[in-house]
Amino acid sequence: MKYFLQFAVALSLLVSLPVLAMGDATAGQGKAAVCAACHGADGNSVIPNWPKLAGQHAAYLERQLVLVKAGKRQIPEMTGIAMGLSEQDMADISAYFATQVIKAGLADEALVAAGELLYRSGNPDTDIAACMSCHGPAGEGNPLSGYPALAGQHAVYSEKMLKGFRSGQMWGEDDASSRIMTEVAKRLSDDEIKAVANYLQGLHAAE
Ligand code: HEC
Ligand code: HEC
Repeated sequence: MKYFLQFAVALSLLVSLPVLAMGDATAGQGKAAVCAACHGADGNSVIPNWPKLAGQHAAYLERQLVLVKAGKRQIPEMTGIAMGLSEQDMADISAYFATQVIKAGLADEALVAAGELLYRSGNPDTDIAACMSCHGPAGEGNPLSGYPALAGQHAVYSEKMLKGFRSGQMWGEDDASSRIMTEVAKRLSDDEIKAVANYLQGLHAAE
């Protein structure tokens, strides 16, 4: 039953994800130069407030760019740049970053066990789903369902996102991806967010 439900969720997302342009990673490499100052030339940013994009699924990256350009996801640092991108540019740049390899960071050992437990098993006491059920055992995500990869991401960024989702922040209200995390994050405690974000920072997708 559980598997059937997951399959049904995946299927419904599949149907509702917008059809996006096909990207060309080679063309995208040149176009991504404007992103390098913040996200790194290969998508491995060094400043923790700026997310790593390397290895993220192209469709996920593209969805975010479309939302930023439309003003639905507000990233003041990026609005000007996004306004100048065509649909093809967004597809190409996303394809480029998707081909790059993310470099994981280091996790604070003291928090790893708690973070891993939440990631793998959720919290049955407070009805929090296992993150792994959508984001994959190695944090690789699931491109077909629109679940982003999380492994190796800066803890500061993941923490900020989780607190945002917990407070109800979402974008693209009219599609299926947007409501999922606000529902999952509702009952996360500050300690759980800190622990799981730290765990993700040290997680290597290849393991
Ligand atoms: C001046 C710095 C800056 C530049 C230049 C910039 N970004 Fe960003 N970007 C950010 C910040 C800051 C965030 C995180 C916003 C937040 O906290 O919600 C972000 C978030 C993103 C996200 C969302 C990532 C996720 O995991 O949800 C994508 C995708 C993205 N940027 C792509 C790009 C691309 C592609 C370019 C170049 C065309 C670019 N950015 C240029 C600062 C920048
Ligand atoms: C039912 C599936 C599902 C579960 C379970 C789930 N997530 Fe997510 N998660 C998503 C989706 C879908 C998105 C993208 C939302 C969007 O595009 O607006 C996302 C986005 C995220 C992001 C933002 C990534 C980025 O690059 O900006 C983080 C961080 C995250 N999830 C962490 C978690 C953690 C931690 C858990 C467990 C406590 C969890 N998720 C459980 C589906 C899920």
